[in-house]
Formats: sequence, structure tokens, C-alpha cells
Amino acid sequence: MSTKNKRPLKTKLLFIVALLGVCFILIQFARPQIDSPPVKADFEAPAEVKNIITRACYDCHSNQTNLRWYDKVQPIYWQVAEHVKDGRKGLNFSNWKNMAPADQKAKLWEAVNQIAEGAMPIKSYTMVHTEAKVPASDLAILKAYLAVMVHSKPADTSKTNALDKQYQKWQKAKTAHTKLPVEPNGIAYIPDYKNWQVISTTERFDNGTMRVIFGNDIAIKAVKEHHINPWPNGTIFAKVAWDQLQDTAGNVKTGAFKQVEYMIKDDHKYASTKGWGFARFKTPKMVPYAAGNALFANECVNCHRPMSNNDFVFTMPVKH
Ligand code: HEC
Ligand code: HEC
Repeated sequence: MSTKNKRPLKTKLLFIVALLGVCFILIQFARPQIDSPPVKADFEAPAEVKNIITRACYDCHSNQTNLRWYDKVQPIYWQVAEHVKDGRKGLNFSNWKNMAPADQKAKLWEAVNQIAEGAMPIKSYTMVHTEAKVPASDLAILKAYLAVMVHSKPADTSKTNALDKQYQKWQKAKTAHTKLPVEPNGIAYIPDYKNWQVISTTERFDNGTMRVIFGNDIAIKAVKEHHINPWPNGTIFAKVAWDQLQDTAGNVKTGAFKQVEYMIKDDHKYASTKGWGFARFKTPKMVPYAAGNALFANECVNCHRPMSNNDFVFTMPVKH
């Protein structure tokens, strides 16, 4: 080898790197189109269901693809465009209401199973879009919704009317903040439960209600740390019940608000009721359930007694 050849080798390498760089820049301009046609028949479901689907599936299964900057860098963008094209072809939530009710049920069934098997959302996607992962708690919500959809009958119009009336009242009342109602044992309505995490959902086919059980931060932390028998002081559960509405097309959604119930853990303060403070507020007016009857909590305790080995709590949380 002559010394002459060494230099050109370095130069060649530099040239190749530069060429790759230029190619990288050039391929940025070769872009298949991802269009966003108008959404006319969007998926409808109770907010807690809709939020999961939107967050985890809409990038590939709706006309509302939301590309982040790193999705737009080639060659990743090619794969993204391919996913969106194929994803929309198999299932497009933006065309949901154009589907026959039976097809909607079938698609939802398929969707829940794809998630349960870990096939959806696509792994390479959730590795970067971590917010799109579907934890077990969310899967439980989807399953509960699916179960309702499959089994329930159309709601009668009195329920629909009740919902409309409530909505109009709520619209009017939004500005006027009134004093919080209080149960005879001193427990006041806690509006903040809406910001807590869902621990589980249940539905009662017999009386047509949908129920969601929320836990405050202490409850969620206890679940994570497997510290739930007994639950730590400060734990609060809120169990919320709505009418369950189903229209003639088979769509299920939450109807009029029925009531919210609380259980607040405090060994000392609520020693006489097994360490839990119980409260129930009914109708959107949040009427205290037990006005004038300070011993009402015995009724709650008695019915929760079968769970005495489980700190009087029915709900088995799905792991977060
Ligand atoms: C990164 C894009 C992407 C995301 C996010 C995604 N999918 Fe998919 N999905 C696809 C692609 C691509 C296909 C078609 C090819 C395949 O089956 O792998 C598909 C296929 C499916 C199918 C089969 C459709 C058919 O052909 O009948 C279902 C059901 C499905 N996805 C459900 C979901 C659900 C539910 C979510 C959200 C929890 C989700 N997907 C999130 C890309 C995605
Ligand atoms: C007729 C029996 C019964 C009565 C009475 C009862 N509960 Fe419950 N409660 C249940 C069942 C069953 C569950 C499990 C969730 C479900 O199936 O809805 C539950 C769950 C709860 C939960 C969620 C935490 C958990 O244990 O799973 C709260 C909070 C709650 N009840 C509050 C109350 C309050 C407050 C009262 C009294 C005003 C009360 N309950 C009275 C049967 C009852």
C-alpha cells in the first residue's frame, strides 16, 4: 500500500457520510399524503370510553391523525403513513355512525380483544407514544362498556327526557356555586372525585344503571403498593351511578346522574362504622341521603358486611 491511498480513503468516507446526509435531507421531501377528511359520523360513547379510544387509537383509526414532530421525520414517516392507511381501512372511528349497530358491536368486540391480546395499539407506536398505552384499568372500562352494549335494551324516553332536563339545568347552574350539602355524620359532598382515577366499573342490567368507582390519590397509591387490606387512612372511594341509555341504533351512553356515594377511611374518626365514613348524595341536586338519621351508616355497613375480611370493600381494583 502506498501512502497515497490512505488519504483518499478518509476522503471517501467523508464523502459517503455527506452523501447519506444529503439523501436523508432529500427523502424528507418524499411524502405520501396523510389527509384528514371531515369527520361526520364520529364514534360516540360515555366520556371515559371515548377518551381511551381517542387517546390510544385515533392516530391510526380515525380521520383525526395527530402527527408529532418525530412522526414526520423520514424514514419513520413512511411507516406512519402506511399504518394510518391500513389502520383506517380496517377500522375508522370517524365513520362509526355509518355502520350498522351489529357491525359496531362486532368491531368493538374485535377492538377489545386486540387490546387484550396486546396486538393493539401497535407496539412500535406505543414505544414512542407512551400515552397511548392501554392499562388494565382502561381495558376494564372498555370491557364493561362492551358488556352493556351487548346485553341491554333500548332506554325508554322518560330517561332520555330526564337527561335533557338535567343538562339544561346544569347549563344554567354552572355559574352559580352553592354551599356543599352535608350528611348527618358531617361528611360533605366532595366534588373533586371527577378528577380521581377510575378503580373499576360495574353495570346492573336489572335496574339499568352504569356505575364507576373512583379512588383518590391515597387509594391509587395503596393499589400500586398492594396495601389494600386494610386500606390506609385517608383513602376515599366515590361510587357514581348514572342511568344507562341505549338508543334504537344500539348506542349506549350514560344518562341522567343518579347519585354519588363515598367511603372515607379513618380508623379513629369512624371507629363506630368499621373505620369508614359513609355518605350518599342523590340526584344532581346532591341531596344528602340520610337527613335526620345519624345512624344511616349502619345500613351501609350491614350490606358491606360480607366483605368484612376485605376491609368492607367490594371493589377489587385492577392493577395500575
Ligand atoms: C400506529 C397505528 C395504530 C394504532 C395506534 C392502533 N392501530 Fe389498530 N391497526 C393498525 C393497522 C396498521 C392495522 C391493520 C394491519 C394489522 O392488522 O396489523 C390495524 C388493525 C386493527 C384492527 C383490525 C381491523 C380489521 O381489519 O378488521 C382492529 C380491531 C384494531 N386495529 C383496533 C385498534 C384499537 C382498538 C386501537 C387502540 C387501542 C388501535 N387499533 C390502535 C394500526 C394502529
Ligand atoms: C344493598 C347493599 C348495599 C348497600 C345498602 C350499600 N352498598 Fe355500597 N356497595 C354495594 C356493592 C355490592 C358494592 C360493589 C360495587 C357494585 O357492585 O356496585 C358497593 C360499593 C360501594 C362503594 C365502592 C367501594 C366498594 O366497597 O366497592 C362505595 C363508596 C359504597 N358502596 C358506598 C356505600 C354507602 C355510602 C352506602 C350507604 C349510604 C352503601 N354503600 C350502601 C352494596 C351496598
